[in-house]
Amino acid sequence: MDVRIENVTMEFQNTVAVNSLSTTIRNGEMVSLLGPSGCGKSTTLMLLAGLYKPTCGNIYFGEKNVTNIDAEKREIGMVFQNYALYPHLSVLKNIMFPLRMQKVPKREAKDRAMEMARLVQIGHLVDRKPGQLSGGQQQRVAIARALVKKPNLLLLDEPLSNLDARLRLEMREEIRRIQQEVGITAIFVTHDQEEALSISDRVMLMKDGVLQQDSIPQEMYRKPINSFAAAFIGNPPINFLLARKTEQAGNYELVNSSQIIKLPGYLNQQKIQIGLRPENLFLTDKDNALLTGEVIHLETIGRDTLIRVQIEDVTIRALIDPSIPINVGDQCHLGIEQDHVHYFDTENGSNLERGNSYDGQANMEQYA
Ligand SMILES: Nc1ncnc2c1ncn2[C@@H]1O[C@H](COP(=O)(O)OP(=O)(O)OP(=O)(O)O)[C@@H](O)[C@H]1O
Ligand SMILES: [Mg+2]
Repeated sequence: MDVRIENVTMEFQNTVAVNSLSTTIRNGEMVSLLGPSGCGKSTTLMLLAGLYKPTCGNIYFGEKNVTNIDAEKREIGMVFQNYALYPHLSVLKNIMFPLRMQKVPKREAKDRAMEMARLVQIGHLVDRKPGQLSGGQQQRVAIARALVKKPNLLLLDEPLSNLDARLRLEMREEIRRIQQEVGITAIFVTHDQEEALSISDRVMLMKDGVLQQDSIPQEMYRKPINSFAAAFIGNPPINFLLARKTEQAGNYELVNSSQIIKLPGYLNQQKIQIGLRPENLFLTDKDNALLTGEVIHLETIGRDTLIRVQIEDVTIRALIDPSIPINVGDQCHLGIEQDHVHYFDTENGSNLERGNSYDGQANMEQYA
């Protein structure tokens, strides 16, 4: 079922939690709602679930306008961070619960609940009480219970936040597997950018109730629409440098450092913000260097070495190949491929690169 959100705004007393939100989530698609705390992710889910009525705008499920339809009639499955299982009921009874509420006969409810329990791989645990399960197993019960009614839409609000790092990774793969196996349209709320990028077909990045970028994960990473998106995506975070135009065309001087960098001819701003992702920087020789500085910190993280380089009053981080010998105190030259450099407007943060399409529809077509 396609879900269409059209100019939806949700105002509380003195907060605009969601501001003129529009998008379409296609049938069978898994979309992540990503953004910092308070940006309106949960409110958007509540609006879709029918637990809130928007201040204005419309929501369509398929062709049907559901804006004023009550939550019970929307046929939605929801999974929350805290699982919200009934502690006194067995796993099987927890999963059967929504069906029993619908007066589905006991035998049939039991069969359907068992089928769901197997799908989420807890078929062997159905007689236990939730308290006798691990966090990951409890989350599986919550997913089975959300899916047992065969909803049209699955809404997941930070379902993995209570799990430790390893289990989070396993469960996010599981959620994706289950979503694809069932073929259900799903919206996954998270404030974890890596989780959003890895689990979904498409990511919607929000800030202060406003949708910033709506694109496939690679696009979100490669072509951030503004400096907020660039900063929110990626770990370690992108380096920002401020530069000022010099007399000589195309040459910019870094603010707080006398180094000059050459920018593409189409950029003509007096001041510009440059974004360099740590993983795109590499060590090179003087002739090919974009920047030169002193290594002031070095640590090994996983398979990379993270260095901090001081360039007069500017510091930047770079992830480099650990096989290259380098020490704190060394001078180093950092290079980057031209198409990995991002340029932003210093006033409104918008990305200044030419020829980039940020059109949501164009993005959709790329992977449709
Ligand atoms: N019932 C409410 N009454 C008043 N303000 C609310 C209500 N619910 C949410 N808000 C406000 O709306 C904004 C968005 O809240 P929301 O819960 O949607 O954020 P979120 O993105 O889910 O954040 P988090 O990552 O912390 O869960 C916040 O400023 C919040 O304080
Ligand atoms: Mg929330």
